[in-house]
Amino acid sequence: MPPTFTTIAIDGGAATGKSSTARGLAARLRYLHVDTGSHYRALTLLCLRHKVAACDANAIRALLSHNPLGTEVDLAACDAKITVDGSVPADADLRSDAVNANVSQYAAQPAVREALKEYQRGQKNVAIAKGFGGLVMEGRDIGSVIFPDAELKIFLEADEATRAARRAKDGQTDAILERDRLDSTRKTAPLTCPEGAIRVNNSQMSLPEVIEHIAAMLS
Ligand code: DC
Repeated sequence: MPPTFTTIAIDGGAATGKSSTARGLAARLRYLHVDTGSHYRALTLLCLRHKVAACDANAIRALLSHNPLGTEVDLAACDAKITVDGSVPADADLRSDAVNANVSQYAAQPAVREALKEYQRGQKNVAIAKGFGGLVMEGRDIGSVIFPDAELKIFLEADEATRAARRAKDGQTDAILERDRLDSTRKTAPLTCPEGAIRVNNSQMSLPEVIEHIAAMLS
């Protein structure tokens, strides 16, 4: 382990700007960026393609045992992508209406969360092996469950109109509030502001301002 490896956990609801912030912060610090929402999307896509229901824990475990998870790192972009059975799922598929509509149900399944917990904790070793000085991991339970001892924990917030406008700008139809309701009320690892996290409401801030604001917390 390098002497000063830094883990930054960024949590928050749908369309609060987590991905842009985490990606920008990672590039600014030259840390490895990991988007855990894409992990849940990748497993949702796999299950939908194999017609495995979100409530069928045994079928999900069997499917995962035949489709091992891996990681592809883009060193220049400081970004890690999940691979399922050796390939990175296409972004358009991960963000399709079918995945948007179903991902919260699969993310509530303990068999899915268990598989991803182990995988996500392992991303720290991936970052170290690739020579990064830190990790910026974004999701819903990073500061609470995956890395509760992270050196810095951020809980991102934005008002409802700002979030809806961001999704519309991305050309996406996504039931943000319904997804947040499901994510916040599930039994396993619900979306919550983790203990020790700093709340950042970015409704009135530009992306560079948010990135600088968080980077300044490290010094
Ligand atoms: O960040 P996103 O919108 O791409 O996340 C997709 C879904 O994955 C979201 O509805 C909840 C789930 N998720 C989760 O339960 N835990 C995480 N750490 C990340 C995402």
